[in-house]
Amino acid sequence: MEKTIDKIVSLAKRRGFIYPGSEIYGGLANTWDYGPYGSQLKKNITDFWWKTFVQNRDDIIGLDSSILLNPKVWEASGHIGSFSDPLIDCKNCKERIRGDKLIEEHLGVEAAVGKSLEEVGQIIKENKLKCPKCGKTDFTEARSFNLMFKTHQGVVEETASSVYLRPETAQGIFINFKNVTQSTRTKIPFGIGQIGKSFRNEITPGNFIFRTREFEQMEIEYFVAPEPQEQIEEIFENWKKDALSWYKAIGLNEDNMRFRDHDKDELSHYSSMTTDIEYKFPFGWGELMGIAYRGCYDLTQHQTFSGEKMEYIDPQTNERYIPHVIEPSFGLNRALLTVLLDAYDEDEVNGETRVVMRFKPVVAPVKAAIFPLIKKPELTELALKIKQTLQNNFAIEYDEAGAIGKRYRRQDEIGTPFCITVDFDGLEDQTVTLRHRDSTKQERVKIEELESILFREINGI
Ligand code: GAP
Repeated sequence: MEKTIDKIVSLAKRRGFIYPGSEIYGGLANTWDYGPYGSQLKKNITDFWWKTFVQNRDDIIGLDSSILLNPKVWEASGHIGSFSDPLIDCKNCKERIRGDKLIEEHLGVEAAVGKSLEEVGQIIKENKLKCPKCGKTDFTEARSFNLMFKTHQGVVEETASSVYLRPETAQGIFINFKNVTQSTRTKIPFGIGQIGKSFRNEITPGNFIFRTREFEQMEIEYFVAPEPQEQIEEIFENWKKDALSWYKAIGLNEDNMRFRDHDKDELSHYSSMTTDIEYKFPFGWGELMGIAYRGCYDLTQHQTFSGEKMEYIDPQTNERYIPHVIEPSFGLNRALLTVLLDAYDEDEVNGETRVVMRFKPVVAPVKAAIFPLIKKPELTELALKIKQTLQNNFAIEYDEAGAIGKRYRRQDEIGTPFCITVDFDGLEDQTVTLRHRDSTKQERVKIEELESILFREINGI
Protein backbone atom coordinates (compact mmCIF):
# COMPACT_ATOMS: atom_id res chain seq x y z
CA MET A 1 0.00 0.00 0.00
CA GLU A 2 1.37 3.37 -1.02
CA LYS A 3 0.98 6.19 1.48
CA THR A 4 0.71 9.55 -0.21
CA ILE A 5 0.11 13.00 1.17
CA ASP A 6 -2.96 13.18 -1.10
CA LYS A 7 -4.54 10.17 0.65
CA ILE A 8 -3.98 11.82 4.02
CA VAL A 9 -5.27 15.22 2.84
CA SER A 10 -8.43 13.63 1.48
CA LEU A 11 -9.11 11.48 4.56
CA ALA A 12 -8.34 14.47 6.79
CA LYS A 13 -10.96 16.58 5.05
CA ARG A 14 -13.59 13.85 4.65
CA ARG A 15 -13.45 12.74 8.27
CA GLY A 16 -13.05 16.15 9.91
CA PHE A 17 -9.39 16.17 10.88
CA ILE A 18 -8.11 19.08 8.78
CA TYR A 19 -9.91 21.41 6.37
CA PRO A 20 -8.41 23.93 3.92
CA GLY A 21 -8.50 27.38 5.59
CA SER A 22 -11.13 30.01 4.63
CA GLU A 23 -12.61 27.52 2.17
CA ILE A 24 -15.97 29.23 1.54
CA TYR A 25 -14.07 32.33 0.37
CA GLY A 26 -11.91 30.40 -2.06
CA GLY A 27 -9.30 29.63 0.59
CA LEU A 28 -6.14 31.33 1.79
CA ALA A 29 -3.05 29.55 0.51
CA ASN A 30 -1.34 27.22 2.96
CA THR A 31 -3.72 27.80 5.85
CA TRP A 32 -5.49 24.88 7.47
CA ASP A 33 -8.25 24.55 10.05
CA TYR A 34 -8.35 21.64 12.45
CA GLY A 35 -11.78 20.02 12.55
CA PRO A 36 -13.48 18.10 15.37
CA TYR A 37 -11.10 15.11 15.25
CA GLY A 38 -8.02 17.12 14.23
CA SER A 39 -8.37 19.59 17.09
CA GLN A 40 -8.82 16.72 19.56
CA LEU A 41 -5.81 14.88 18.09
CA LYS A 42 -3.74 18.07 18.36
CA LYS A 43 -4.84 18.56 21.95
CA ASN A 44 -4.00 14.95 22.81
CA ILE A 45 -0.50 15.39 21.37
CA THR A 46 0.14 18.62 23.30
CA ASP A 47 -1.34 17.14 26.49
CA PHE A 48 0.91 14.10 26.18
CA TRP A 49 3.92 16.32 25.49
CA TRP A 50 3.16 18.44 28.56
CA LYS A 51 2.60 15.34 30.67
CA THR A 52 5.87 13.71 29.50
CA PHE A 53 8.14 16.70 29.74
CA VAL A 54 6.57 19.07 32.27
CA GLN A 55 4.19 17.21 34.59
CA ASN A 56 6.19 13.99 34.95
CA ARG A 57 9.60 15.61 35.29
CA ASP A 58 10.85 17.34 38.41
CA ASP A 59 13.39 19.38 36.45
CA ILE A 60 11.03 21.12 34.00
CA ILE A 61 8.39 23.76 34.64
CA GLY A 62 5.84 25.33 32.33
CA LEU A 63 5.25 28.79 30.90
CA ASP A 64 2.83 30.50 28.53
CA SER A 65 4.28 33.77 27.26
CA SER A 66 2.83 36.34 24.83
CA ILE A 67 3.00 36.11 21.07
CA LEU A 68 3.64 39.86 20.87
CA LEU A 69 6.89 40.89 22.58
CA ASN A 70 8.78 44.14 22.87
CA PRO A 71 10.52 44.57 19.46
CA LYS A 72 13.87 44.89 21.27
CA VAL A 73 13.59 41.16 22.02
CA TRP A 74 14.03 40.44 18.31
CA GLU A 75 16.94 42.84 18.01
CA ALA A 76 18.63 41.07 20.91
CA SER A 77 17.84 37.57 19.66
CA GLY A 78 19.32 38.33 16.24
CA HIS A 79 16.06 37.72 14.39
CA ILE A 80 15.87 41.23 12.96
CA GLY A 81 19.42 40.94 11.62
CA SER A 82 19.73 37.27 10.70
CA PHE A 83 16.35 35.54 10.40
CA SER A 84 16.06 35.71 6.65
CA ASP A 85 16.13 33.56 3.52
CA PRO A 86 17.69 34.35 0.12
CA LEU A 87 14.83 35.26 -2.21
CA ILE A 88 14.98 35.25 -6.02
CA ASP A 89 12.28 36.03 -8.60
CA CYS A 90 11.92 34.33 -11.96
CA LYS A 91 12.06 37.16 -14.54
CA ASN A 92 9.84 35.21 -16.92
CA CYS A 93 6.89 33.98 -14.79
CA LYS A 94 7.53 36.11 -11.66
CA GLU A 95 7.57 33.03 -9.40
CA ARG A 96 9.21 33.78 -6.02
CA ILE A 97 11.68 31.11 -4.97
CA ARG A 98 13.95 30.43 -2.01
CA GLY A 99 17.38 30.42 -3.64
CA ASP A 100 18.92 28.01 -1.14
CA LYS A 101 16.03 25.53 -1.58
CA LEU A 102 16.43 25.61 -5.37
CA ILE A 103 20.11 24.77 -4.95
CA GLU A 104 19.32 22.09 -2.37
CA GLU A 105 16.81 20.39 -4.68
CA HIS A 106 19.24 20.22 -7.60
CA LEU A 107 22.67 20.03 -6.01
CA GLY A 108 22.02 18.71 -2.49
CA VAL A 109 22.10 20.15 1.04
CA GLU A 110 25.88 20.58 1.09
CA ALA A 111 25.81 22.94 -1.86
CA ALA A 112 23.06 25.07 -0.32
CA VAL A 113 23.93 25.64 3.32
CA GLY A 114 25.75 28.63 4.73
CA LYS A 115 26.02 30.51 1.43
CA SER A 116 26.06 34.31 1.20
CA LEU A 117 23.50 36.10 -1.01
CA GLU A 118 26.15 36.59 -3.72
CA GLU A 119 27.13 32.90 -3.62
CA VAL A 120 23.48 31.80 -3.91
CA GLY A 121 23.08 33.97 -7.03
CA GLN A 122 26.33 32.67 -8.52
CA ILE A 123 25.58 28.97 -7.93
CA ILE A 124 22.14 29.32 -9.53
CA LYS A 125 23.63 31.09 -12.57
CA GLU A 126 26.64 28.81 -13.02
CA ASN A 127 24.56 25.64 -12.79
CA LYS A 128 21.81 27.08 -15.00
CA LEU A 129 19.17 26.04 -12.45
CA LYS A 130 15.65 26.24 -13.83
CA CYS A 131 12.55 27.91 -12.43
CA PRO A 132 10.37 25.08 -11.06
CA LYS A 133 7.28 26.74 -12.56
CA CYS A 134 8.24 27.76 -16.12
CA GLY A 135 11.64 26.11 -16.64
CA LYS A 136 13.45 29.35 -17.58
CA THR A 137 16.83 30.22 -16.06
CA ASP A 138 16.68 34.02 -15.81
CA PHE A 139 16.40 35.21 -12.20
CA THR A 140 16.75 38.50 -10.30
CA GLU A 141 19.71 38.96 -7.93
CA ALA A 142 19.24 37.11 -4.61
CA ARG A 143 18.07 39.41 -1.82
CA SER A 144 17.55 38.92 1.86
CA PHE A 145 13.94 38.41 2.96
CA ASN A 146 13.17 38.62 6.69
CA LEU A 147 10.71 35.94 7.74
CA MET A 148 9.09 37.79 10.62
CA PHE A 149 5.52 39.05 10.25
CA LYS A 150 5.45 42.74 11.11
CA THR A 151 2.33 44.51 12.28
CA HIS A 152 1.27 47.54 14.30
CA GLN A 153 0.13 47.78 17.85
CA GLY A 154 -2.54 50.36 18.73
CA VAL A 155 -4.18 52.88 16.45
CA VAL A 156 -1.13 54.74 15.07
CA GLU A 157 0.71 53.12 12.20
CA GLU A 158 4.16 54.51 12.82
CA THR A 159 7.54 52.87 13.33
CA ALA A 160 7.36 53.28 17.09
CA SER A 161 4.26 51.08 17.22
CA SER A 162 5.69 48.23 15.08
CA VAL A 163 5.55 44.78 16.61
CA TYR A 164 6.36 41.31 15.29
CA LEU A 165 4.46 38.04 15.61
CA ARG A 166 6.94 35.72 17.30
CA PRO A 167 8.81 33.39 14.90
CA GLU A 168 9.66 30.99 17.75
CA THR A 169 8.28 30.54 21.26
CA ALA A 170 11.82 30.30 22.67
CA GLN A 171 12.43 34.02 23.23
CA GLY A 172 9.39 34.28 25.52
CA ILE A 173 11.15 31.74 27.73
CA PHE A 174 14.52 33.54 27.77
CA ILE A 175 13.00 36.89 28.69
CA ASN A 176 11.18 35.25 31.63
CA PHE A 177 14.28 33.48 32.91
CA LYS A 178 14.69 35.97 35.74
CA ASN A 179 11.01 35.87 36.71
CA VAL A 180 10.99 32.08 36.81
CA THR A 181 14.17 31.73 38.88
CA GLN A 182 12.91 34.36 41.33
CA SER A 183 9.44 32.92 41.74
CA THR A 184 10.31 29.21 41.92
CA ARG A 185 12.99 27.17 43.64
CA THR A 186 14.49 25.72 40.48
CA LYS A 187 18.11 24.59 40.54
CA ILE A 188 20.32 24.11 37.51
CA PRO A 189 20.03 21.95 35.51
CA PHE A 190 16.38 22.76 34.84
CA GLY A 191 14.15 23.51 31.89
CA ILE A 192 11.21 25.73 31.01
CA GLY A 193 8.72 24.33 28.52
CA GLN A 194 5.98 26.04 26.56
CA ILE A 195 3.56 25.33 23.77
CA GLY A 196 2.22 27.95 21.42
CA LYS A 197 1.78 29.50 18.01
CA SER A 198 4.65 30.89 15.98
CA PHE A 199 4.57 32.73 12.69
CA ARG A 200 7.01 32.87 9.79
CA ASN A 201 6.42 34.49 6.45
CA GLU A 202 7.82 31.44 4.66
CA ILE A 203 8.68 31.97 0.99
CA THR A 204 7.84 28.40 0.01
CA PRO A 205 5.25 26.94 2.35
CA GLY A 206 3.66 23.66 1.32
CA ASN A 207 3.37 19.90 1.62
CA PHE A 208 0.06 20.16 3.49
CA ILE A 209 0.76 21.14 7.14
CA PHE A 210 4.52 20.48 6.89
CA ARG A 211 5.49 24.10 6.26
CA THR A 212 2.94 26.81 6.94
CA ARG A 213 3.17 30.45 7.94
CA GLU A 214 1.24 29.92 11.16
CA PHE A 215 2.22 26.86 13.15
CA GLU A 216 2.69 25.60 16.68
CA GLN A 217 5.82 24.73 18.57
CA MET A 218 6.46 22.81 21.77
CA GLU A 219 9.80 24.07 23.04
CA ILE A 220 12.02 23.53 26.04
CA GLU A 221 14.93 25.72 27.02
CA TYR A 222 17.04 23.52 29.28
CA PHE A 223 19.49 25.55 31.38
CA VAL A 224 22.82 23.96 32.30
CA ALA A 225 26.11 25.04 33.88
CA PRO A 226 28.67 26.34 31.32
CA GLU A 227 31.00 23.42 32.11
CA PRO A 228 32.15 20.69 32.17
CA GLN A 229 31.69 20.19 28.44
CA GLU A 230 31.24 16.42 28.88
CA GLN A 231 28.20 17.05 31.06
CA ILE A 232 26.65 19.32 28.43
CA GLU A 233 27.27 16.67 25.78
CA GLU A 234 25.72 14.00 27.99
CA ILE A 235 22.60 16.13 28.56
CA PHE A 236 22.42 16.79 24.81
CA GLU A 237 22.60 13.04 24.09
CA ASN A 238 19.90 12.35 26.69
CA TRP A 239 17.63 14.87 24.98
CA LYS A 240 18.10 13.05 21.69
CA LYS A 241 17.01 9.80 23.35
CA ASP A 242 14.08 11.39 25.23
CA ALA A 243 12.79 13.11 22.11
CA LEU A 244 12.98 9.93 20.03
CA SER A 245 11.17 7.94 22.76
CA TRP A 246 8.43 10.55 22.85
CA TYR A 247 7.84 10.27 19.10
CA LYS A 248 7.72 6.48 19.42
CA ALA A 249 5.19 6.80 22.25
CA ILE A 250 2.85 8.84 20.01
CA GLY A 251 3.00 6.10 17.40
CA LEU A 252 5.88 6.91 15.08
CA ASN A 253 7.75 4.02 13.54
CA GLU A 254 11.44 4.15 14.45
CA ASP A 255 12.39 3.10 10.89
CA ASN A 256 10.86 6.33 9.59
CA MET A 257 13.08 8.51 11.80
CA ARG A 258 16.76 9.36 11.84
CA PHE A 259 19.12 11.82 13.50
CA ARG A 260 20.97 14.32 11.34
CA ASP A 261 23.72 16.54 12.73
CA HIS A 262 23.99 20.00 11.21
CA ASP A 263 27.24 20.88 9.47
CA LYS A 264 29.11 23.86 10.94
CA ASP A 265 28.05 26.23 8.12
CA GLU A 266 24.42 25.11 8.35
CA LEU A 267 23.97 26.09 12.00
CA SER A 268 21.51 28.85 12.98
CA HIS A 269 23.01 32.12 14.13
CA TYR A 270 22.66 31.11 17.79
CA SER A 271 23.78 27.49 17.71
CA SER A 272 27.11 25.69 17.94
CA MET A 273 25.71 22.14 17.80
CA THR A 274 22.36 21.02 16.36
CA THR A 275 20.88 17.62 15.68
CA ASP A 276 17.58 17.25 13.85
CA ILE A 277 15.25 14.31 14.08
CA GLU A 278 14.14 13.76 10.51
CA TYR A 279 11.16 11.78 9.27
CA LYS A 280 10.76 9.91 6.01
CA PHE A 281 7.83 11.85 4.53
CA PRO A 282 6.29 10.70 1.24
CA PHE A 283 8.11 13.70 -0.33
CA GLY A 284 11.48 12.75 1.21
CA TRP A 285 13.35 13.11 4.50
CA GLY A 286 12.34 16.29 6.31
CA GLU A 287 12.95 17.96 9.66
CA LEU A 288 10.61 16.89 12.42
CA MET A 289 12.34 18.73 15.25
CA GLY A 290 15.68 20.24 16.20
CA ILE A 291 17.83 19.93 19.30
CA ALA A 292 20.24 22.87 19.50
CA TYR A 293 23.03 23.81 21.88
CA ARG A 294 22.53 27.58 22.08
CA GLY A 295 25.38 28.19 24.56
CA CYS A 296 24.84 31.39 26.56
CA TYR A 297 23.99 33.34 23.39
CA ASP A 298 20.39 34.29 24.16
CA LEU A 299 20.65 35.13 27.85
CA THR A 300 23.83 37.17 27.23
CA GLN A 301 22.14 39.08 24.41
CA HIS A 302 19.11 39.85 26.60
CA GLN A 303 21.36 40.93 29.45
CA THR A 304 23.16 43.33 27.10
CA PHE A 305 20.03 44.72 25.42
CA SER A 306 17.81 44.98 28.52
CA GLY A 307 20.46 45.89 31.09
CA GLU A 308 18.97 43.24 33.43
CA LYS A 309 21.26 40.61 34.96
CA MET A 310 20.58 37.14 33.59
CA GLU A 311 22.88 35.37 36.01
CA TYR A 312 22.28 32.30 38.06
CA ILE A 313 23.84 31.98 41.51
CA ASP A 314 24.79 28.46 42.46
CA PRO A 315 23.26 27.92 45.93
CA GLN A 316 26.14 25.69 47.04
CA THR A 317 29.21 27.44 45.70
CA ASN A 318 27.78 30.96 45.33
CA GLU A 319 29.34 30.98 41.88
CA ARG A 320 27.61 33.37 39.42
CA TYR A 321 27.26 32.57 35.77
CA ILE A 322 25.03 32.96 32.74
CA PRO A 323 23.63 29.48 32.13
CA HIS A 324 24.08 27.65 28.86
CA VAL A 325 21.07 26.26 27.04
CA ILE A 326 20.11 23.07 25.26
CA GLU A 327 16.90 23.50 23.29
CA PRO A 328 14.70 20.62 22.13
CA SER A 329 12.25 22.30 19.76
CA PHE A 330 9.30 20.18 18.60
CA GLY A 331 6.91 21.23 15.83
CA LEU A 332 3.34 20.30 16.73
CA ASN A 333 1.90 20.30 13.21
CA ARG A 334 4.70 18.13 11.87
CA ALA A 335 4.23 15.74 14.79
CA LEU A 336 0.54 15.56 13.92
CA LEU A 337 1.25 14.99 10.22
CA THR A 338 3.61 12.12 11.02
CA VAL A 339 1.11 10.62 13.47
CA LEU A 340 -1.46 10.65 10.65
CA LEU A 341 1.03 9.15 8.18
CA ASP A 342 2.22 6.34 10.45
CA ALA A 343 -1.31 5.55 11.62
CA TYR A 344 -2.78 5.32 8.10
CA ASP A 345 -3.34 1.76 6.95
CA GLU A 346 -5.52 -0.17 4.55
CA ASP A 347 -6.35 -3.83 5.15
CA GLU A 348 -9.06 -6.32 4.33
CA VAL A 349 -11.90 -7.24 6.64
CA ASN A 350 -14.61 -9.66 5.49
CA GLY A 351 -13.39 -9.33 1.92
CA GLU A 352 -13.63 -5.53 1.92
CA THR A 353 -10.84 -2.97 1.98
CA ARG A 354 -10.99 -0.84 5.08
CA VAL A 355 -9.08 2.33 5.88
CA VAL A 356 -7.93 2.21 9.45
CA MET A 357 -6.05 4.82 11.44
CA ARG A 358 -3.92 2.84 13.87
CA PHE A 359 -3.49 5.65 16.41
CA LYS A 360 -1.95 4.86 19.76
CA PRO A 361 -4.83 5.08 22.27
CA VAL A 362 -3.07 7.99 24.01
CA VAL A 363 -3.45 10.25 20.95
CA ALA A 364 -6.61 8.79 19.38
CA PRO A 365 -9.23 11.58 19.16
CA VAL A 366 -12.03 9.25 20.22
CA LYS A 367 -11.12 6.59 22.75
CA ALA A 368 -14.23 4.42 22.49
CA ALA A 369 -17.50 4.31 20.57
CA ILE A 370 -20.66 2.89 22.09
CA PHE A 371 -23.35 1.22 20.00
CA PRO A 372 -26.65 -0.42 20.83
CA LEU A 373 -26.71 -3.56 18.66
CA ILE A 374 -30.03 -2.41 17.26
CA LYS A 375 -32.17 0.66 17.89
CA LYS A 376 -34.39 -0.71 20.69
CA PRO A 377 -35.17 1.49 23.72
CA GLU A 378 -33.76 -1.03 26.28
CA LEU A 379 -30.44 -1.16 24.41
CA THR A 380 -30.12 2.55 23.62
CA GLU A 381 -30.91 3.40 27.23
CA LEU A 382 -28.14 1.20 28.59
CA ALA A 383 -25.68 2.33 25.88
CA LEU A 384 -26.33 6.00 26.70
CA LYS A 385 -25.96 5.27 30.41
CA ILE A 386 -22.54 3.69 29.79
CA LYS A 387 -21.57 6.67 27.63
CA GLN A 388 -22.48 9.04 30.41
CA THR A 389 -20.33 7.26 32.99
CA LEU A 390 -17.30 7.12 30.68
CA GLN A 391 -17.39 10.50 29.00
CA ASN A 392 -16.27 12.49 32.01
CA ASN A 393 -12.84 10.87 31.65
CA PHE A 394 -12.66 9.84 28.00
CA ALA A 395 -13.72 11.16 24.60
CA ILE A 396 -16.62 8.83 23.73
CA GLU A 397 -18.92 8.66 20.71
CA TYR A 398 -22.38 7.17 20.54
CA ASP A 399 -23.67 5.78 17.24
CA GLU A 400 -26.92 3.96 16.56
CA ALA A 401 -27.18 4.60 12.80
CA GLY A 402 -26.85 1.82 10.23
CA ALA A 403 -25.51 -1.70 10.28
CA ILE A 404 -22.99 -2.53 12.97
CA GLY A 405 -20.28 -3.27 10.35
CA LYS A 406 -20.69 0.23 8.90
CA ARG A 407 -20.43 1.74 12.37
CA TYR A 408 -17.16 -0.16 12.94
CA ARG A 409 -15.76 1.16 9.63
CA ARG A 410 -16.64 4.74 10.55
CA GLN A 411 -14.73 4.38 13.82
CA ASP A 412 -11.80 2.59 12.14
CA GLU A 413 -11.38 5.54 9.80
CA ILE A 414 -11.05 7.99 12.66
CA GLY A 415 -8.84 5.59 14.60
CA THR A 416 -11.08 4.80 17.57
CA PRO A 417 -9.24 1.98 19.39
CA PHE A 418 -12.35 0.41 21.01
CA CYS A 419 -15.96 -0.15 20.10
CA ILE A 420 -18.40 -1.21 22.79
CA THR A 421 -21.61 -2.93 21.71
CA VAL A 422 -24.61 -3.34 23.97
CA ASP A 423 -26.82 -6.36 23.17
CA PHE A 424 -29.70 -8.24 24.82
CA ASP A 425 -27.41 -10.61 26.76
CA GLY A 426 -25.89 -7.53 28.37
CA LEU A 427 -29.22 -6.50 29.80
CA GLU A 428 -29.24 -9.79 31.74
CA ASP A 429 -25.61 -10.08 32.86
CA GLN A 430 -24.32 -6.49 32.68
CA THR A 431 -21.69 -7.28 30.02
CA VAL A 432 -20.87 -5.82 26.60
CA THR A 433 -18.65 -6.78 23.69
CA LEU A 434 -15.40 -4.86 23.42
CA ARG A 435 -14.00 -4.79 19.90
CA HIS A 436 -10.32 -4.02 19.33
CA ARG A 437 -9.69 -1.85 16.27
CA ASP A 438 -6.38 -3.36 15.10
CA SER A 439 -7.17 -7.06 15.42
CA THR A 440 -10.97 -6.63 15.03
CA LYS A 441 -11.16 -9.26 17.83
CA GLN A 442 -14.10 -9.04 20.20
CA GLU A 443 -14.29 -10.03 23.84
CA ARG A 444 -17.02 -10.05 26.42
CA VAL A 445 -16.34 -7.73 29.38
CA LYS A 446 -18.23 -6.54 32.42
CA ILE A 447 -19.65 -3.02 32.16
CA GLU A 448 -18.12 -2.11 35.50
CA GLU A 449 -14.65 -2.96 34.15
CA LEU A 450 -14.82 -0.69 31.11
CA GLU A 451 -13.42 2.36 32.85
CA SER A 452 -10.32 0.60 34.15
CA ILE A 453 -9.73 -1.18 30.82
CA LEU A 454 -9.79 2.12 28.95
CA PHE A 455 -7.57 3.78 31.54
CA ARG A 456 -5.02 0.96 31.28
CA GLU A 457 -4.96 0.90 27.49
CA ILE A 458 -4.72 4.68 27.08
CA ASN A 459 -1.97 5.07 29.64
CA GLY A 460 -0.08 2.02 28.38
CA ILE A 461 -0.06 0.24 31.76
N1 GAP B 1 13.56 27.79 18.68
C1 GAP B 1 14.22 27.03 17.68
C2 GAP B 1 13.47 26.92 16.44
O1 GAP B 1 12.45 27.56 16.25
P1 GAP B 1 13.42 25.69 14.13
O2 GAP B 1 14.24 24.53 13.65
O3 GAP B 1 13.38 26.90 13.28
O4 GAP B 1 14.00 26.02 15.57
C3 GAP B 1 11.70 24.13 15.30
O5 GAP B 1 11.95 25.20 14.41
C4 GAP B 1 10.59 23.25 14.77
O6 GAP B 1 9.42 24.03 14.52
C5 GAP B 1 10.91 22.58 13.43
O7 GAP B 1 11.66 21.41 13.61
C6 GAP B 1 9.52 22.28 12.91
O8 GAP B 1 8.99 21.11 13.51
C7 GAP B 1 8.72 23.47 13.42
N2 GAP B 1 8.60 24.48 12.34
C8 GAP B 1 9.47 25.46 12.01
N3 GAP B 1 9.01 26.19 10.98
C9 GAP B 1 7.81 25.65 10.64
C10 GAP B 1 6.83 25.97 9.64
N4 GAP B 1 6.97 27.00 8.81
N5 GAP B 1 5.72 25.19 9.57
C11 GAP B 1 5.53 24.15 10.42
N6 GAP B 1 6.42 23.83 11.38
C12 GAP B 1 7.55 24.55 11.50
